[in-house]
Amino acid sequence: MTAEARGDWQGWRAAAEDALYGPDGFYRRPEGPAGHFRTSVHASALFAGAVARLLCRVDEALGRPAELGFVDMAAGRGELAAGVLAALPSEVASRARGYAVEIADRPEALDHRIEWLAEPPKGITGLLFANEWLDNVPLEIAETDPEGVPRRVLVRRDGRERLGEPVSGAEADWLARWWPLPAEEGVRAEIGLPRDEAWALAVAGVERGLAVAVDYAHTVDARPPFGTLTGFREGRGTAPVPDGSCDITAHVALDACALPGGRVLTQRDALRALGITGARPPLALASTQPAAYVRALASAGEAAELTAPGGLGDFGWLLQPVGLADAPFEALLVEALLVDVPDHEEQ
Ligand SMILES: C[S@@+](CC[C@H](N)C(=O)[O-])C[C@H]1O[C@@H](n2cnc3c(N)ncnc32)[C@H](O)[C@@H]1O
Repeated sequence: MTAEARGDWQGWRAAAEDALYGPDGFYRRPEGPAGHFRTSVHASALFAGAVARLLCRVDEALGRPAELGFVDMAAGRGELAAGVLAALPSEVASRARGYAVEIADRPEALDHRIEWLAEPPKGITGLLFANEWLDNVPLEIAETDPEGVPRRVLVRRDGRERLGEPVSGAEADWLARWWPLPAEEGVRAEIGLPRDEAWALAVAGVERGLAVAVDYAHTVDARPPFGTLTGFREGRGTAPVPDGSCDITAHVALDACALPGGRVLTQRDALRALGITGARPPLALASTQPAAYVRALASAGEAAELTAPGGLGDFGWLLQPVGLADAPFEALLVEALLVDVPDHEEQ
């Protein structure tokens, strides 16, 4: 009998692993992530359009390879992969190969061109894109005891917590480097080591190109003192209870995940550079082309949601160039990929 089945105490990493991805886990449910919350992918097709545009820039930087890979990492129901393939110009689409990597089963109606995998593919030339994946990679939580010693937080299936053993080894090293805790009772940290490892493994599958992780993020100079662990169910925030009834998520230390050459920017800046601004159409269009005006207005509303301060616009984009000569060149490549587009090209 597993610890979970006995109702025993375990660390948050094992508890969330069972609750999200076990046989009856939250992410194996038929309704999928879109049944409980709205990611940028669900918010607007503009997002897939922008990712398709980024894929085209990667394609150019790679010299238009005969096969151009697009990996939708942690794909949910494959919505982004389908949207990106549909948005590509036909010449690029003819060379593109789409993959969706997901723990849940393949949806029946998914575009047949998309290969459905349980693990990231290897040897990819192209773009790997992970939208809201890393926040769902389970991790341990540390909390300081009355002596100021960081201890592993243990949890039961009903969500009750107590403190376990002091954090040690590689986890203690990670805390010291990325989330140093003051010796003050009750402060908490989320030990991002499994996310760094998961990201490094996914990036290792890209031979040449770019890997991008998009998520709620924080950096070492501004970690939240009590952490960010939370639950989601049917569109609402809820207590994180590891019983399979809700999502369990914690913001991502994207700066810790970054490998050499990686760079983090906001979704607002990334989408702006990919042609999405949220600017309203000129009022004059309303009288000359009313239908076009209404369409442009709706599109501006969706763009505003994707770039909103205090919302999706504040998400972090970790850009990780891979296998493209030496580090300074990689940094230049990131600049080139995200160069601002002229206004007339904007969507
Ligand atoms: C918040 S949802 C995001 C879905 C989609 N990317 C989107 O933006 O709408 C997180 C997804 O990551 C998947 N996931 C988590 N860990 C994974 C892993 N190691 N391999 C593949 N999929 C994973 C979950 O099953 C879930 O569908």
